[in-house]
Amino acid sequence: MHRVTLPPIGTFRAWRDAARSFLAANVPPEQILWGDHATAPDLFSDDSPPSGGGAVSVPRSFIQMAETVVWHSDPERFAHLYAFLWRLRETPHRNLMSDRGDRDLARLRRMEKNVRRCQHKMKAFVRFREIGRPGAARRSFAAWFEPTHHIVEPTADFFVRRFGDMDWRILTPDVSAVFEQGKLSFSEGHAKPDLPEDASEALWITYFQNIFNPARLKVQAMQSEMPKKYWKNLPEAAYIPRMIAEAPMRARAMAEAAPTLPPARVEQLKAQLASCKSAWSGPSEALPKAIRSCTRCPLHCNATQAVLGEGPAQADLMIVGEQPGEMEDLSGRPFVGPAGQLFDQAAAKAELDRETAYVTNAVKHFKFSVRGKRRIHQRSDVSEIEHCRWWLDAEIATVRPKLILAMGATAARSLTGKETGLHARRGTIETGRAGLPVLITFHPAYLLRLSEPEVRKQAEAQFTQDLALAATFVAPDKAPAHSDHLQAFTQEAPSPRAP
Ligand code: URA
Repeated sequence: MHRVTLPPIGTFRAWRDAARSFLAANVPPEQILWGDHATAPDLFSDDSPPSGGGAVSVPRSFIQMAETVVWHSDPERFAHLYAFLWRLRETPHRNLMSDRGDRDLARLRRMEKNVRRCQHKMKAFVRFREIGRPGAARRSFAAWFEPTHHIVEPTADFFVRRFGDMDWRILTPDVSAVFEQGKLSFSEGHAKPDLPEDASEALWITYFQNIFNPARLKVQAMQSEMPKKYWKNLPEAAYIPRMIAEAPMRARAMAEAAPTLPPARVEQLKAQLASCKSAWSGPSEALPKAIRSCTRCPLHCNATQAVLGEGPAQADLMIVGEQPGEMEDLSGRPFVGPAGQLFDQAAAKAELDRETAYVTNAVKHFKFSVRGKRRIHQRSDVSEIEHCRWWLDAEIATVRPKLILAMGATAARSLTGKETGLHARRGTIETGRAGLPVLITFHPAYLLRLSEPEVRKQAEAQFTQDLALAATFVAPDKAPAHSDHLQAFTQEAPSPRAP
């Protein structure tokens, strides 16, 4: 049995040299007892590692891992490393270093990670206090730190790079790093020194309190970033419990005092909002061209073309559908597909002459999803309806009809702003957003989808009745005596047209 005790300073080099010698001499792991100054204080019982033996080749990735793992505080770390090194040599074909399922490798990787994490904490939590004489050529600082692993030696370079122009020492119970006149050295551990208060400490605490955001407090995340064991040596940590306790109150105060938008920006936003809601304001002759080149919402990207309204420029009746279907998208004309045909049949029964009405849609582009070779209609969403209202409002302002017939929920929503159920509202007249009467009815495509013959028959009858009502509204001489609510509305409704 061989005994090896590794020194606290220069540990990696010492382990590497010893491991190389044992490996070259074919000494198996179970014949070596590894220890460090803490676990094997009896330095004189050591064997010198065997000398001689053949050349040893070790994968670079193992060396890199070992360079970190040797600083772990687990007394078994040297033994684990050597045992793995032995397996690497015995099974070169197994590519052990990249075997994620290998338990020995996984343990070493965990140790490596712990050491790296500890190094990271040291970089973040070492707090220096000034100890030099005033007026000395180089300022001098000292810090007390209590790391979990033996990481002073592999981490010291970081502080050399950071604080190369001053003298400093980092004292720990284990190993201390001293940097004087540009030279780094290590010595054995220290008892906790009595370091003076530092003038910059108050500044540090103020900084810490200021970067603390009570509205984003996550106690667990904070404690995992700044584990409690480090608190005793961090001046700012004394303030943490109070800051946590006061966080809800401070977050509330922050919300109440939230900054308001600067007035100029508010005005700009208001103007933008207003312009979104208002209609297009160009000359009516330019409206068709403007609609054709609309890019206000993404629907224009896939549709063949925008489908314009059609009919007399000064029609008494405006009929509004949802959006063009497949046939309308291809032909560029509203209500020419199956829904249009059903509409035409019902209009004929209701003695409504479609040619006298201005027929349009709430949304001007066809919205669809592609299934195989087919384009399947998709309902327009609120944003698309609202974007397209810009055009519908412009059409209403240009045509100035006496009555608008809203066919289906999309048209009703666009014209009245209300989304409540269509069934309860069908056949009634509401005042639209433009102040004009809006008669609500079914959409013809809805009737086409009704598979129950009786239900469809009844719905078609109601639809025809609504079309007849619309026809009489715009030609009152045709009005049947029973349409009392219509007459009442006609009397109340403001005249949309200039006399
Ligand atoms: N459905 C509509 O809403 N409008 C059309 O133009 C065609 C079908």
